[in-house]
Amino acid sequence: MVGTKCVEALSPRESGFKNSDVPINISLLTELQTTANGCRAPPPHDPAILRLADAMSTFQTDFDRIALVSPDGATQNDHYQDFLLRHLPPHCHEVLEIGCGTGAFARRLAQHSEKVLALDLSPEMIRVARERSTRFSNIEFQVADICARDLPAESFDCIATSATLHHLPLREILLQMKAALKPGGVLLVLDLFEPEGLSDWLSNIVAIPMSVTLRLIHQHRLRPSRAVRAAWAAHEQHDLYPTMRTVRKLCLESLPGAKVRKHLLWRYSIVWQKAI
Ligand SMILES: C[S@@+](CC[C@H](N)C(=O)[O-])C[C@H]1O[C@@H](n2cnc3c(N)ncnc32)[C@H](O)[C@@H]1O
Repeated sequence: MVGTKCVEALSPRESGFKNSDVPINISLLTELQTTANGCRAPPPHDPAILRLADAMSTFQTDFDRIALVSPDGATQNDHYQDFLLRHLPPHCHEVLEIGCGTGAFARRLAQHSEKVLALDLSPEMIRVARERSTRFSNIEFQVADICARDLPAESFDCIATSATLHHLPLREILLQMKAALKPGGVLLVLDLFEPEGLSDWLSNIVAIPMSVTLRLIHQHRLRPSRAVRAAWAAHEQHDLYPTMRTVRKLCLESLPGAKVRKHLLWRYSIVWQKAI
């Protein structure tokens, strides 16, 4: 796609495996539990686990590099924060954010809740997030691979995630988040989709100038720096997005009543409230 799909990237089409299609059983993934010294080796006989572990290690390298060059200005993902925050439950005690990156959304969530647990696979992302969040005593940042992490059942008033789910096995992660929400809790997802059909391509006519304008406003530049473009280009070699059809199908199966919306800047959202 020509344009700026993911934060500041100007991307060609991606290649590589389609990670959202990898049939992973999330309970198997807990076998990859991190230890104090890093990740334990997965069982050698399970190719699905080995594939996912390999992908996560690649993503960690990519995002460690991206963290070092990420500017502290709003991104295309941040453009949808207000929309997501409007759906927070009224009394938000504990929020979980998965894939917090440099912590911009965690800081917004922390203004609307008592505490935020913000997880990210990349140690560099977490380091930058902590540096940028020193004013927030109610955010706990942790380096963690969500695929290797057991979430406590029915524990969070809200689980939020932005531009992260396309790195994960989508069906399994939706079920994992669903189980970890308290009754009445709200799931907030923002992520990228693969354009399909003429209308998606035509929307570029508006989306591209809008994306450039937003960058001018928030980052005072027309295009990302060379270092940012190089870091994202390397990541996009193994980045793939689900189509809206896949997202809607999985939501229908796993999150009955979920509101799935397509947004202009190559993103979709899912808002779902767990029954009380
Ligand atoms: C495109 S960035 C999005 C960052 C931020 N949420 C935003 O909206 O700008 C995706 C983030 O997801 C993190 N991530 C990818 N796979 C993950 C996993 N398995 N567990 C936790 N975080 C993961 C990456 O390290 C990266 O920081």
